[in-house]
Amino acid sequence: MSKSDLEDSSGSDTNGATETPAKKPTVWQRFKTHMKRRWWIYLIALCCIVLVVVLPLVYVGIPRFANEYINDYKFDYEGLAITNPRPTSFHVSQSKKLNMGGGFSGSGHLTGFNASIRVPDTNEEFAVFPVPQIDFNNGANLNIDQDLDLSCVECLSKLAVAAATNQSFGVLVTGDPDLKFGALPTAHLNIHKTMNMNGYNVTDFVNSQGAFNITSLDLMNPPVNGFNFNATIALKNPTPFIVEMGHVIFNLTLGGSKLGYVDIPNLMLQQENTTAVILGNVDESMLIREFVWGDGDSGDVTIGVKGHSCDYNGVEIPYFAAAIKAVDALATVDLLKYVKLLK
Ligand SMILES: *[C@@H]1O[C@H](CO)[C@@H](O)[C@H](O)[C@H]1NC(C)=O
Ligand SMILES: *[C@@H]1O[C@H](CO)[C@@H](O)[C@H](O)[C@H]1NC(C)=O
Ligand SMILES: *[C@@H]1O[C@H](CO)[C@@H](O)[C@H](O)[C@H]1NC(C)=O
Ligand SMILES: *[C@@H]1O[C@H](CO)[C@@H](O)[C@H](O)[C@H]1NC(C)=O
Ligand SMILES: *[C@@H]1O[C@H](CO)[C@@H](O)[C@H](O)[C@H]1NC(C)=O
Ligand SMILES: *[C@@H]1O[C@H](CO)[C@@H](O)[C@H](O)[C@H]1NC(C)=O
Ligand SMILES: *[C@@H]1O[C@H](CO)[C@@H](O)[C@H](O)[C@H]1NC(C)=O
Repeated sequence: MSKSDLEDSSGSDTNGATETPAKKPTVWQRFKTHMKRRWWIYLIALCCIVLVVVLPLVYVGIPRFANEYINDYKFDYEGLAITNPRPTSFHVSQSKKLNMGGGFSGSGHLTGFNASIRVPDTNEEFAVFPVPQIDFNNGANLNIDQDLDLSCVECLSKLAVAAATNQSFGVLVTGDPDLKFGALPTAHLNIHKTMNMNGYNVTDFVNSQGAFNITSLDLMNPPVNGFNFNATIALKNPTPFIVEMGHVIFNLTLGGSKLGYVDIPNLMLQQENTTAVILGNVDESMLIREFVWGDGDSGDVTIGVKGHSCDYNGVEIPYFAAAIKAVDALATVDLLKYVKLLK
């Protein structure tokens, strides 16, 4: 679109009532129309910020939330990875070509900006996400590769707990990038958006069809380092991206009594299917008693799973640990299915 094009059309709208050139509002109106159709530009930014910060922390089970995002915003998470967690920061990376549908054409850019992420109630800022400049030309290349520092770890931990316990929560995202689109004047955006989300019931997730399988199981007798079994599990990642969690421990109970614990030395959630080695120490005689005398018809036993800790290279990761500790679920496991795996 050329400048003369804009001037021509604005001229026809002149009402002569004021001395200010009438082309300004008209250009602005046209611009607003553009903006309405270009809503996704804001969303690229919003999605990076909010998803990158919030979703991984609540990996313990918010597939519904993740699905809503995908359905509503069609953001492609392929290759988005949260790695190297540290107590007050983590690394975020994604390199992605975004294809914009909806007949979008034209080029421009959204300038890089510091997006502030806050807790809506208290207005307390807990992170600043440096969104890189996003250039678009019939699509966009998104290149994120940076550390995200947390200024309020406690805030994030609270969100993680809410998400893992089926409560609703929100984050407020603010930022003021400039948007340049084609020949149109630069727009100074003022993003101020509260994103409300629902948490997810972990018990429901753990018991959902095919959420996890034990693919191999070795009993270790005598125990090795206090572990009496070593298994490989396959699990579905409730978030649509890669999350390096580190070392996670869950306590197990049976009928309210302590059954033992499982230790996942290195949990790295992959895009879709994750496999992980788990080491465990369980009271076998208790399991067998339940198996033989329990009132289930089949080999089903209901095991309580309570999150105990999460650390990375021996250092506690408070925001992941909070989410893990909020896990208090009952998982029904068919022992018969797994007895067959034993040699
Ligand atoms: C974001 O904040 C950092 C630290 O205050 C500053 O160095 C950087 O220039 C800011 N970036 C933008 C795009 O404003
Ligand atoms: C999660 O769901 C289970 C069964 O569907 C229910 O018993 C439990 O109370 C729920 N937990 C929360 C926190 O809503
Ligand atoms: C948990 O989520 C379900 C499904 O959205 C909802 O029906 C239920 O009331 C929620 N429970 C709590 C305790 O928020
Ligand atoms: C558990 O099994 C995995 C894969 O078979 C193996 O790499 C690992 O060393 C085993 N760990 C222990 C403590 O036996
Ligand atoms: C677990 O096994 C079931 C049945 O074989 C399969 O449908 C499901 O996808 C598996 N889940 C994972 C996470 O591999
Ligand atoms: C994930 O696992 C399921 C079931 O095992 C399989 O059908 C699917 O192809 C796997 N996906 C990828 C990307 O490997
Ligand atoms: C997990 O079990 C250990 C050892 O029995 C215990 O010290 C710890 O308090 C338990 N953690 C939770 C969260 O129940």
